[in-house]
Amino acid sequence: MSSEHIKRSNQTGWDGMADSYQATTAISVDDVHYGPLGPGERELGLLGEVRGSRVLELACGAAQNSIALAKQGAVVTAMDISNKQIRHARRLAAREGVGVDLLRGDMESLGMFKDGIFDLVLSSFGWEYVPDLGQCLEECARVMAGGGKLVVCTVHPLAAFEWDEESQDLRVFDYFRLPVEVWSEPEHGLEVGATFFHTIEEVFGLLTAIGFAVEQILEPSPYPITEMSEAELRTVPYRGADWERQYERMSRVPFTIIYTARKRS
Ligand SMILES: C[S@@+](CC[C@H](N)C(=O)[O-])C[C@H]1O[C@@H](n2cnc3c(N)ncnc32)[C@H](O)[C@@H]1O
Repeated sequence: MSSEHIKRSNQTGWDGMADSYQATTAISVDDVHYGPLGPGERELGLLGEVRGSRVLELACGAAQNSIALAKQGAVVTAMDISNKQIRHARRLAAREGVGVDLLRGDMESLGMFKDGIFDLVLSSFGWEYVPDLGQCLEECARVMAGGGKLVVCTVHPLAAFEWDEESQDLRVFDYFRLPVEVWSEPEHGLEVGATFFHTIEEVFGLLTAIGFAVEQILEPSPYPITEMSEAELRTVPYRGADWERQYERMSRVPFTIIYTARKRS
């Protein structure tokens, strides 16, 4: 399948899934999230002061992260390949009373932006859908100012593997040749979508070769949700019943990985 075909399929899939994704996932519009059940920006403090910063969020979904940053005084542009997700984002930004520049587009091709115009590029669970991560990172570097920050969270490479339902062990066959996950959502009009995984060494190598200095790599464990009150649970910036069902596994094997990097001046 060609790269363009994969992206079109992922777009169709996300157009079909957008309503149920937004209905079944509780995502904060006051804290930036870095993945299911884990700590967000309030706890991790990865972004620094954002007031006045020019921010680009890629694969924004309903733009909850962008809305949270706009509330803190950042000047935010957010982009997603799915029209349906962007429609959710427009409604949510209006409801929250903040201005976010919302665009439909592909995060591998940022041709609508001039060079060097963003101080921060952020993406939360989007780059695993991109067939050519190197191309995406080249584009990120191009639109970022020297010294600008890239903060990305994505699926951990160990999430490429399947769990043994009986023993509840993760079956890691070959870490060095991570599988591409081919998925299908026929009820949402999607025959074939694809998720791409990358080893940590591969991502580090790409970032470094493209001109980023990697600052942090985090593998956050989930909050201890089984010990938390309802009120405490509501402070978790990204949650939902589907994720809570996977808590036990996620508390043993990381699901999320976060990279922070700075564009060399
Ligand atoms: C798991 S959702 C995450 C959305 C949002 N960042 C969040 O955390 O809720 C993945 C998003 O990636 C978007 N996406 C997939 N491929 C993309 C691409 N090539 N360019 C831009 N967005 C893409 C999908 O439309 C979807 O909204």
